[in-house]
Amino acid sequence: MPTRPEGEAPRRRRRLRGVFDLGVARERRRYQGDPRRILLGTLRERFLRAHLKDSPGRVLELGPGPGRFTPVIRRLARGPVIAVDLSRRSLKAARRSSRDGRGLPRVHWIQGAGEHLPLTTGSVDAAVALGNILGFAARDAPKVMEELRRVLRPGGLLVADFPSPAGAVQEFLHGLSQDRRLQKVLRNPRLYLIDSVLATGYQPFAPARLAKFECQFFTAGEARETLARHGFETLDVMSVAPLTAFQDRSPSIAHQEKRTWEALLRLEECVGRRPGTLEMGHGFVVAGRRKGV
Ligand SMILES: C[S@@+](CC[C@H](N)C(=O)[O-])C[C@H]1O[C@@H](n2cnc3c(N)ncnc32)[C@H](O)[C@@H]1O
Repeated sequence: MPTRPEGEAPRRRRRLRGVFDLGVARERRRYQGDPRRILLGTLRERFLRAHLKDSPGRVLELGPGPGRFTPVIRRLARGPVIAVDLSRRSLKAARRSSRDGRGLPRVHWIQGAGEHLPLTTGSVDAAVALGNILGFAARDAPKVMEELRRVLRPGGLLVADFPSPAGAVQEFLHGLSQDRRLQKVLRNPRLYLIDSVLATGYQPFAPARLAKFECQFFTAGEARETLARHGFETLDVMSVAPLTAFQDRSPSIAHQEKRTWEALLRLEECVGRRPGTLEMGHGFVVAGRRKGV
């Protein structure tokens, strides 16, 4: 992955902060409303619960946004939660929705960046980075990984999601099919960077070509290599909803009964761990352990 000229990283972060400061309400709805969205959030949440349950004292949540997963983390943590986000407005929203947490560990809300974590070395037992944080970090993803490694104690747990190129293209096409732009884009997929995302995994910031974020996408192999390069042993990898992430009707039908919903979640979790499907869902989630003593 090539490094970037001085000054580009802060510019990218300012852009992200601007987008997320303005998009708090939209972010809050990311995993709400229709069953397909609920499915994507629930699968991430179940993965997080499964790995965090035995672990932690002090937990870092990087990029909590408006706090979708913060209450889950708080209920599982045995020590304080440190929530670090670029966006002050997102932190405010997360803080408001976490007010009612009597008896639960404290949350420290900190405006900051994953590339320069305001935490001392080895000071957290687990770190959670859900919501495409590593993808948004683009060329600076290695810096974020390095910081996560630094602040985690040896043996500490990392739970993160990675956006895959195939999943990202599916999501892009699915979104376009909802608002009639699909045909326009398929008339010239190269213009809209689809070929280049699939070939290189890199998307520049190019709003005129519908690329609203600079982003780095990862194959499952690249995610494993990234973890290994930064001193993590991979414990678990699961594609998020490879069966129905980009279907609307199946999740809606399954959601009508508790039993069918549970069956769909189980199927997705089972298929999602098969190597051939790792890049076909709504990204994939990874659990890793920080090596070293
Ligand atoms: C898509 S939201 C995810 C929110 C939540 N984690 C979820 O999965 O629903 C991404 C959040 O991460 C924050 N963020 C992105 N990159 C970051 C970085 N490098 N450092 C700190 N926060 C970051 C954004 O400001 C935004 O609030």
